Amino acid sequence: MKQFDPSVFDFDNPSALFRFEDWLKGLIGGRLFYDPYFDTRGGFRGNEVVLDFGCGGGVSTRCIAAKLTRGGRVTGVDISSYFTAKAQKRLEGFSNARVLRGEITNLALPQQSFDLISIIHVIHDIVKEKRAGTVRALAGVLRPQGRLWIWEPIRQSHGMPAEEIRRVMAEAGLREVSAETEGSSYKGIFEKESRTHSAATVWTRYGEDARGVRRLASPRLGCAICCC
Ligand SMILES: C[S@@+](CC[C@H](N)C(=O)[O-])C[C@H]1O[C@@H](n2cnc3c(N)ncnc32)[C@H](O)[C@@H]1O
Repeated sequence: MKQFDPSVFDFDNPSALFRFEDWLKGLIGGRLFYDPYFDTRGGFRGNEVVLDFGCGGGVSTRCIAAKLTRGGRVTGVDISSYFTAKAQKRLEGFSNARVLRGEITNLALPQQSFDLISIIHVIHDIVKEKRAGTVRALAGVLRPQGRLWIWEPIRQSHGMPAEEIRRVMAEAGLREVSAETEGSSYKGIFEKESRTHSAATVWTRYGEDARGVRRLASPRLGCAICCC
């Protein structure tokens, strides 16, 4: 089967179908699509600082803003001039929401400044070589023990493998807390470790003894920050 190739998309000039989908989501997407999804993640307390990464036309950002009723704020980030303009318009009237256009790797958002990052159908749309760096940058702006909710299609014809999602998250110090893989989509909750290390650093420290029990192999190979 033909592999999905995200490099064919021009998000600044989306197709008529993509524009129609955004219009339709604006009409009914909140009630049918985003609100039920956020509710199944556990919802919002109302005071969180949230990043809606790849916010598109801002329908999800608007749903989040409406739920942050206790002082919370949401920032929508997207690379598309077309979709960020739509999102700005949809969020007029929400003083707790803003939209930024650009790559997360270049936006210079303060490190560890978000409680929660929501990603809905975005990482698969980024070319493969840039996915790990993007997720590392996202992990950087998430506070320790902050959470990341991700929903991605995983079909070969349009999506990315769930294993790749897990790998880029683990490499960025994000631990999978829960996951559902239903047919063509993966929905996961990740948590940022209090201290981040590369998976390779941690694993090289362990070996198995004769009974197969994992033990510290060599403290000298360990992380220089702490004694984990
Ligand atoms: C399929 S749309 C999903 C939009 C939105 N999350 C939703 O649920 O409708 C994918 C979005 O990801 C955005 N995108 C693609 N690459 C991106 C990147 N590197 N950084 C931020 N956004 C990106 C696109 O501009 C587009 O708006």
